[in-house]
Amino acid sequence: MPASMPIPRAEALPLPAPVWLLESLLVLTFFLHVLPMAAVLGGSVLTLVSDLLGRRRPAYRELADRLAGLLPVAMPATITLGVAPLLFIQLLYGNLFYPATVLMGWPWLSTLGLLILAYYGMYVAALAGRRLRQARTWILLGVSLLVGVVAMVFSRGYAFMLQPERWMAVYSADPRGLGLPAAGAEGAPRFLHALLAAFALAGGYLAAYAAWAGRPGDVPAHAGAGRKLGLAVLVMSLGGQAVVAPWYWRTLPEVARAAIGALPGGTVLLAAGPVLALLGLVLLALAVPGRPQARLAGLLGALVLALAAAPPAILREVARRAQAVQYLPPEGWQVAAQWGLMAVFAAFLVLALGTVVWMVLPYAREREGVIPPEPEPSPGD
Ligand code: HEM
Repeated sequence: MPASMPIPRAEALPLPAPVWLLESLLVLTFFLHVLPMAAVLGGSVLTLVSDLLGRRRPAYRELADRLAGLLPVAMPATITLGVAPLLFIQLLYGNLFYPATVLMGWPWLSTLGLLILAYYGMYVAALAGRRLRQARTWILLGVSLLVGVVAMVFSRGYAFMLQPERWMAVYSADPRGLGLPAAGAEGAPRFLHALLAAFALAGGYLAAYAAWAGRPGDVPAHAGAGRKLGLAVLVMSLGGQAVVAPWYWRTLPEVARAAIGALPGGTVLLAAGPVLALLGLVLLALAVPGRPQARLAGLLGALVLALAAAPPAILREVARRAQAVQYLPPEGWQVAAQWGLMAVFAAFLVLALGTVVWMVLPYAREREGVIPPEPEPSPGD
């Protein structure tokens, strides 16, 4: 660790489990966080677009009603599934995470307020629905911006914690922690990479939802609209990712790229994300609502697309570890395993995931929205 840098020593207490286990759990729980996060971040924009298109086309208005009803469900899942990776980051990289987030303390803490506001907006858009008329568009725009800002602050924070050489300059410029530290070369591609991944997943979910909404001989108009919009967003996001991902790769520090290059199977992992995403796209394109097997193809397509997020989740941890170890004390992490504690964590993780599945299954069986939209007011109201 460079002596000139103001980096605290690693945790005073030893880690409660081996590093490989904590890292694996960090990757697993981050992957689980990404799945509903995409539904919130990409889904709020898709709902906004449906709402706008719905001004002229009733099928999209219907779609907007249904999507708005899903946002208040995706939001708590995102937040709850964000807590676990946060705990593992704090355990493994607390000496980097805390100083960095204190230096940008106000934007970092403001994410709580922004999320609460966005959550209220989602409920209003879902419950008051069409009664809001044009105001719903503005509320959905506000929700999309709020969750977009939260994602940007997080992206900036997780990048800044790996740049301790910049901390002193940021503190000297303004010790109050009022602003976001400048992004650096990695900032824009890192954020765009996360954003496009969220849009691609949300587009895929929508195409799968559309396939699920149709039955042979009974395809509601909003299913056709959802398929069109979902696939269009998925294709555009993957196209954008083809430019942004190589750009992001080039901005990664040399030590991170070398660690991925040296990883056994690193090249396979790099290729696996795009390959799975394209496979997911093909399956979703085959999932034409109302056709035989459309539901199966839609479900498989969404699953394969979701799996495409796993290899990048692994690679970002390989890259982060390679950068972070430079700032650890020479003796590295201290470990004193507490297996009882880890068993309790594992039991609660399984219980929590089981509860989520149990809660989501009734919605999968429902063809109506999660929160049934209010009927449109008649002209005399
Ligand atoms: C709507 C709400 C949220 C959105 C849109 C969101 C979005 C994101 C994005 C885009 C990233 C990737 C950032 C990057 O590294 O470039 C991320 C990472 C992360 N988020 Fe969330 N997030 C949300 C809520 C939360 C909450 C409430 C928590 C914690 C309680 C959380 C915990 C995390 C953690 C720990 C990571 C980094 C994990 C890692 O680097 O391995 N998130 N989030």
